[in-house]
Amino acid sequence: MELKTPTSLVFGVNGERFELSNVDPSTTLLEFLRTHTSFKSVKLGCGEGGCGACVVLISKYDPVHDRVEDFTASSCLTLLCSIHGCSITTSEGIGNSKDGFHPIHERIAGFHATQCGFCTPGMCVSLYGTLVNAEKTNRPEPPPGFSKVSASEAEMAIAGNLCRCTGYRPIADACKSFAADVDIEDLGFNSFWRKGESKDLKLSRLPQYDQNHNNVRFPLFLKEIKPFVSLASEEHGWYCPTSLKELQGLFALNHANETRMKLVVSNTGMGYYKDNEGYDVYIDLRGISELSMIRKDRTGIEFGATVTISKAIETLKEESRGDFLSDYVMILKKIAEHMNKIASGFIRNTASVGGNLVMAQRHHFPSDIATILLAVDSMVHIMTGTQFEWLTLEEFLERPPLSLDSVLLSIKVPSLKLSESESSEPRGRFLLETYRASPRPLGNALPYLNAAFLAKVSPCKDSDGTVIDTCRLSFGAYGTKHAMRAKYVEEFIAGKLLSARILYDVVNLITATIVPKDDTSHAAYRSSLAAGFIFQFFNPLIGNPERITNGYLNEHTNLSSVKDFGLTENRKQVHHDKTPALLSSGKQVLEAGTEYQPIGEPVIKSGAALQASGEAVFVDDIPSPKNCLHGTYIYSAKPLARIKSIKLSPELKLDGVRGIISSKDIPNGGQNSGSKSSFGEEPLFAEEIAKCVGDRLAIVVADTQKLADMAANSAIVDYSLENLEPPILSVEDAVKRSSIFQLPPFFVPSQVGDVSKGMAKADHKILSAELKLGSQYYFYMETQTALAVPDEDNCIVVYSSSQSPEYVHANIARCLGIPANNVRVITRRVGGGFGGKSLRSVTCATSCALAAHKLRHPVRMYLNRKTDMIMAGGRHPMKITYSVGFKNDGKITALELEILVNAGIYVDCSPIIPRNMIGALKKYDWGALSFDIKLCRTNHPSRAAMRAPGDVQGSYIAEAIIEKVAATLEMDVDSVRSINLHTYTSLKAFYEDSCGEPHEYTMPLIWSKLNAFANYEVRVEMVKEFNRTNTWKKRGISRVPVMYEVTQRATTGKVSIFSDGSVVAEVGGIELGQGLWTKVKQMVAFALGAVKCDGIDGLLDKVRVVQSDTVSLIQGGLTAGSTTSESSCEAARLSCDILVERLKPLKEKLQKEMGSVNWETLIIQAYAQSVNLSASSFYVPSTNSSRYINYGAAVSEVEIDLVTGETRCLQTDIIYDCGQSLNPAVDLGQIEGSFIQGLGFFMLEEYETNLDGLVLVDGTWNYKIPTLDTIPQKFNVQILNSEHHPQRVLSSKASGEPPLLLAVSVHCATRAAAKEAKKQLLSWSNLDGPDSTFQLEVPATMPVLKQLCGLDIVQTYLKWKMGSMGRNSNHL
Ligand SMILES: Cc1cc2nc3c(=O)[nH]c(=O)nc-3n(C[C@H](O)[C@H](O)[C@H](O)COP(=O)(O)OP(=O)(O)OC[C@H]3O[C@@H](n4cnc5c(N)ncnc54)[C@H](O)[C@@H]3O)c2cc1C
Ligand code: FES
Ligand code: FES
Repeated sequence: MELKTPTSLVFGVNGERFELSNVDPSTTLLEFLRTHTSFKSVKLGCGEGGCGACVVLISKYDPVHDRVEDFTASSCLTLLCSIHGCSITTSEGIGNSKDGFHPIHERIAGFHATQCGFCTPGMCVSLYGTLVNAEKTNRPEPPPGFSKVSASEAEMAIAGNLCRCTGYRPIADACKSFAADVDIEDLGFNSFWRKGESKDLKLSRLPQYDQNHNNVRFPLFLKEIKPFVSLASEEHGWYCPTSLKELQGLFALNHANETRMKLVVSNTGMGYYKDNEGYDVYIDLRGISELSMIRKDRTGIEFGATVTISKAIETLKEESRGDFLSDYVMILKKIAEHMNKIASGFIRNTASVGGNLVMAQRHHFPSDIATILLAVDSMVHIMTGTQFEWLTLEEFLERPPLSLDSVLLSIKVPSLKLSESESSEPRGRFLLETYRASPRPLGNALPYLNAAFLAKVSPCKDSDGTVIDTCRLSFGAYGTKHAMRAKYVEEFIAGKLLSARILYDVVNLITATIVPKDDTSHAAYRSSLAAGFIFQFFNPLIGNPERITNGYLNEHTNLSSVKDFGLTENRKQVHHDKTPALLSSGKQVLEAGTEYQPIGEPVIKSGAALQASGEAVFVDDIPSPKNCLHGTYIYSAKPLARIKSIKLSPELKLDGVRGIISSKDIPNGGQNSGSKSSFGEEPLFAEEIAKCVGDRLAIVVADTQKLADMAANSAIVDYSLENLEPPILSVEDAVKRSSIFQLPPFFVPSQVGDVSKGMAKADHKILSAELKLGSQYYFYMETQTALAVPDEDNCIVVYSSSQSPEYVHANIARCLGIPANNVRVITRRVGGGFGGKSLRSVTCATSCALAAHKLRHPVRMYLNRKTDMIMAGGRHPMKITYSVGFKNDGKITALELEILVNAGIYVDCSPIIPRNMIGALKKYDWGALSFDIKLCRTNHPSRAAMRAPGDVQGSYIAEAIIEKVAATLEMDVDSVRSINLHTYTSLKAFYEDSCGEPHEYTMPLIWSKLNAFANYEVRVEMVKEFNRTNTWKKRGISRVPVMYEVTQRATTGKVSIFSDGSVVAEVGGIELGQGLWTKVKQMVAFALGAVKCDGIDGLLDKVRVVQSDTVSLIQGGLTAGSTTSESSCEAARLSCDILVERLKPLKEKLQKEMGSVNWETLIIQAYAQSVNLSASSFYVPSTNSSRYINYGAAVSEVEIDLVTGETRCLQTDIIYDCGQSLNPAVDLGQIEGSFIQGLGFFMLEEYETNLDGLVLVDGTWNYKIPTLDTIPQKFNVQILNSEHHPQRVLSSKASGEPPLLLAVSVHCATRAAAKEAKKQLLSWSNLDGPDSTFQLEVPATMPVLKQLCGLDIVQTYLKWKMGSMGRNSNHL
């Protein structure tokens, strides 16, 4: 078939044809889909390739082989022009509410794997891509209902996608349910099957899947056009040359015209280098066959520069079946394995090998590929102008940055020369190992350091040792210009017989050689990693020549299995440690309540399948009204400065910028109010003086969000520090300068007992010990967003992603100076809030409203991730000083605390912190407790409530103190915990107004139940045994209790019944992903069921909960504090009770007349008889029972790697008391999800700022929330259905925040493991005795742990070993 030459850009989206002739080539696929099509399932979570919310499937036709290639890609980085000829499939394209959902959507829903649903479409497409490709393989046909995909592939499909809500376990289960090799009994809790059903029955209940579900229908019209397009307009051009000659021609032309030109392959580099610069011309290199070829011959493998990383991996793996030498095959396989940890699948599928190397060469990108290819002596082929040359990769990297008219053509991994391998020296062998230390083990995180070592080794003829003939040691990504070889060390070691002494020298040389540049973070850690990796590589070879003759090269993984290194032993001796093939598994124990059906049933989350298909509408999915403008903030870069002027860069073409809105634009009668609560107010925009970094100065409003972002980025703010005091940047300074927020009396927590008396009783005291805690960012997947639409008569309608529409409403009226009844705020769903959308959302919505009001245009804002991170504030950092007294047996007699909380510049909700903190800290009986908590007002961004605000810090402080006491007494920490747990009597003393009745105190029951559930005592012994027999990994296990006070708040509800019997409910609470709508739906069905007519069982399906609308339902309040679901349920129930009362007389009358009455008839009659079928109510909890305590406990076991400081959570077991759960599936999701968010706080998430308070981590590249590979490998949760709680809403209790605190168990277990590591380190230096009073920082990141385990651990070990082996040994 003759292919047609295109004159415009043609592609398909979900089968629909698009043809565009004038495209700005910088447009991304995501921008196009979200602004020009109805397909909104691709979400913008980061815009930098790091979250997976925007993943699409790209299908490309290959006319030569007449086949379609399908791969996932991030649409936020893919340029629209580059998808010419492709078919795009989004989540709504694989299934939807109209044509039927795909089984992926249905299973995601049934496995309760969505919460806010913002990440879900991306997850679905990621899995879909894996299924599509698995079905293409020639693997055996799977059993009916399954795919050819394996369970670990299915799970890995989503390993690069972020979810901030669920904790991943249920998503992974939904994915695995498609795998032919999964034992479905291992899959987690779901709504498809019931306990005790046979496997066959269970299988039949899963939404049926067959391969036809994956027939991506590649549109015929796309097969008929040539795959590459060139588009040129007056402003810009997109060219796709198909030969080097054509490319050279384009270079010459551009040179002559002085156009700004950019070469592109897949544009993923933009994820890191977000150049805001526009280019006139883009040259797509993918059409040039020389750049896309893969050539293999006896001399090696050559990859064209545009070959994708995925394709390279596939090729390298294939070679294990080829006819290369075994050593070379091993090398290729290792390179492939390492490459598999670069970014995530949806990036690797498009990112080119050449693009990566050019980024490394030109911009010093911390590349993995450069490091590993450097070790294997790779070559690169370059074209500059019309000149061609071959260079070693090393020469290439060392050259000055590649000029713009230079092109990397190909990369060659040379084969090992025969003379260097098997033929000439039969006993010599090559060895290659690659290393990578990064916060996420399986990728999607840049490494702190990477390394690759190639060595040729042979057995020593005269002794039983190993000689290193030659080696290449390559290191990169550690804060250096580019990957480099440690040549001096290579020379030093060449020809030497390996011994502990030689290795010791090598390690020291490496530490002195691998030194990061001055401004690199964790510099000493990175150097110590280099030493550790060198040690790992060479140590197994000391005195082990038989390993070479045994051909260890054929068994690539056993380098680390050498006895000395201890890993084989680990596996053999500790039988409970079979490293699971899968990343996650879990057991969920929960009971469905039967008393108030359908309350208590694990009903599927309302709208879950819609979320999965991406049809669920978030604020930014609402189509823009005509002439809609877009805004973004200009914020202060100084902590305290006078703002003299704000200008936009004159160099940028900013034609579409419509204005800058600031405090000067507040209308007459309005107030400069950003938000207001009972605690105080904050301005919308700084008036004259900016008071913190990130303070709102103004918003820029432009025709598009991209333009507004660009303009704000280029804004030039003229600051002056004249006549200003220095800013307050520390809590100590705030105290010194009396900059303290006062606490309203109700929020002052109460002290317990007499501390001086308690101290007097103590046998021991720890005085003035210090702790510090940092901040945490919400990382809701949907950043702050709002859309404001001016309406008639000076009214305004605002769509806001908010936890507090009522506050948004009131504040907009205040700011605009209009009556409240001119404002209407609508919130349907929120893409994650976690407290960050309480008052912060008010400012965003008010900014939009002000701009809309002023410009008389609709205005929307969707903050980019960086702006959101800089302005968000996050969790409260604090400094804690404590003194504690205790008896010899560990019983604590008194605790005294002084806490300085950094509240930032405005009060926000900071006054809740002290009470929350003390509430959680009181989980132990401290004997007597006194404290002084100061809320320090500093020139940092305002800290706001983040999930479990104050509580998580309080709980941590309690554990840190308990651990210190145990360490001082050299006692087992668990016994100190147990001895200090409350009796009911002490509970009453500590929690006067919330402790409830004695039977409600379930902690003792949970504590002992958990012992059995987690097999705690046995595992404690196993951990000890593990630590005794392992040198380089240490484990710790820890059990912690959690108590968490919550308070119910008033809220509203309204229930209306339509004439067809369907019901609509509105409540004050907002659906944030916490399942509030689902619980309300169940409650409405239950409560209306009291009418007791026929057919009432099916009522659940007739109930719809709808968006919150502040005009329809006032006094909605704030959705926060974990109790809004129950309050909203109660408000809905009260409304239903009114309706039931109205319907009952009619129903009885009809029953008498007709014998039986069904729901529909009753309602028709009620309409006929003018019964009022809409009722609203306001639930106000009674003051004496509104506060109550939640109980839970967790056991976590972790393992730390002493060489890298990496921590893996091997297992977590939780028991949590949900009372009589309103919906155990929803509560399970809350427990797991909040635990993982807590794990992020304790282990991973560094929310670093500079001294001015500017957040240094501003995106997915440097802020690492948990991913699938960092959650507990085994995650078991039991929901305790405790007894009746007459004061609670149908006996239920809260689940949203308290379980977050349980994650402290991971931190405590890590500390226990670190203690073992320190003990061992001391023993090597012949220093016995404990060093257990150390503090483990939060978050306990890899550098933090490595510091504790000893940055020089391998040197210490080698010194010890040399000493213990005696100086005469050959191996010294
Ligand atoms: C989220 C994410 C995570 C990542 N994680 C890692 C990681 O852990 N380790 C790692 O090593 N890499 C990582 N990368 C980097 C990734 O490998 C590169 O972005 C990718 O390989 C670049 O390929 P590309 O085809 O998209 O290049 P493009 O983005 O199209 O180009 C990149 C740059 O190279 C130039 N260029 C491209 N090809 C050529 C050529 N042949 N000749 C001359 N100039 C050229 C372009 O002009 C541009 O300046 C990550 C990337 C992302 C987005
Ligand atoms: S939005 Fe594209 S990966 Fe995050
Ligand atoms: S459900 Fe995954 S981010 Fe909310």
